[in-house]
Amino acid sequence: MTKRQTRKQRQQRPQPQRRPSTPADTVLHVGGASPYDVVVGRDLAGRLPQILGESVERVAVLYTGTLGALADPVVDSLVEHYDVLALGLPDGERAKTAPVAADCWEALGEAGFTRSDAVVTLGGGSATDLGGFVAASWLRGVRVVHVPTTLLAMVDAAVGGKTGINTGAGKNLVGAFHEPAGVLCDLALLESLPREELVAGLGEVVKCGFIADPRILELVESTEPEALTADSAELRELVERAIRVKIDVVVDDLKETGGADGHPGREVLNYGHTLAHAIERTSDYSVRHGEAVAIGCVYVAELAARAGSLDPSLVERHRAAFARVGLPTSYDKATFDDLHAAMKVDKKARGSQLRFVVLDDLAVPRILAGPGEDDLRAAYAAIASAG
Ligand code: GLY
Repeated sequence: MTKRQTRKQRQQRPQPQRRPSTPADTVLHVGGASPYDVVVGRDLAGRLPQILGESVERVAVLYTGTLGALADPVVDSLVEHYDVLALGLPDGERAKTAPVAADCWEALGEAGFTRSDAVVTLGGGSATDLGGFVAASWLRGVRVVHVPTTLLAMVDAAVGGKTGINTGAGKNLVGAFHEPAGVLCDLALLESLPREELVAGLGEVVKCGFIADPRILELVESTEPEALTADSAELRELVERAIRVKIDVVVDDLKETGGADGHPGREVLNYGHTLAHAIERTSDYSVRHGEAVAIGCVYVAELAARAGSLDPSLVERHRAAFARVGLPTSYDKATFDDLHAAMKVDKKARGSQLRFVVLDDLAVPRILAGPGEDDLRAAYAAIASAG
């Protein structure tokens, strides 16, 4: 972990009034017991002092070390107002470990962080998960603002308050719900994101189209895939719509205890994830999360056509939508038996029963618990042979 500390240059405190929205920024409000805003726009770092507020003295910026200069605008926007401790994290899942969290706690302790100080995360989902967990656990909870730098983190990890680290037994097994004080989705940060990472992020976006907002699918189906660039109006609309889907879900069921009227609640966000996590684990994480989600969504669509009532035309719509944005829709790099074993230890399994979110129709999700092994196997055969 790299560390640099900057004392504030001036004693100027942030003004209590909010910076007015520029027309280019969209503010999506997350209601509930700890309300906050998710801002989508460009060059948003200047908003940080208003979100962090006046009582904060010290801010730790936990950033993915390889982002280098991308962290500068964030640090620059803070040094006028706060003592800033910038902590560079290892890349990807290597950040989400107990030793990295412990290094951060030590650094916060040395810098005298109190309960009224704050954390800002800058990076992909691993930075928001680890940084959120450090913020949740330091003095039992300090403010955190997320500045996600990947599409995947913008539409998923940064919103909704899930934080966590991995253990030898699996991903995200230690964590806490800790809602941020704000999320800044700065689309300018996506310009330096490799194309394949942007495409991978679209896996979660298209998923949101199937579970809740079919307009997302229409947009994907009517937009040339190459036109989905970081500066395009189409990508921005997709980002905003996917975040709205997530906000609606987490406001109704923050702690994933279940939804009302047969809706799976927050668990709906796990559409496609049971097989996706099994693919990630058995491939030693060589398949990107968004790619695995695309495959997993096609898999549950095939499963729902067999074990439920999903129309075969919607199964094909799954294949077409994910493939259109450049994502895989088939998989044959593992046997069904290996994937089945991995699915059984996923934390989404309850007891010995496998649980899947499936659709009865577009945006009509429900839980399918304990499907028969024949159906599970046949659905896998359908995606293994379709490539
Ligand atoms: N990524 C799934 C959730 O936030 O619940």
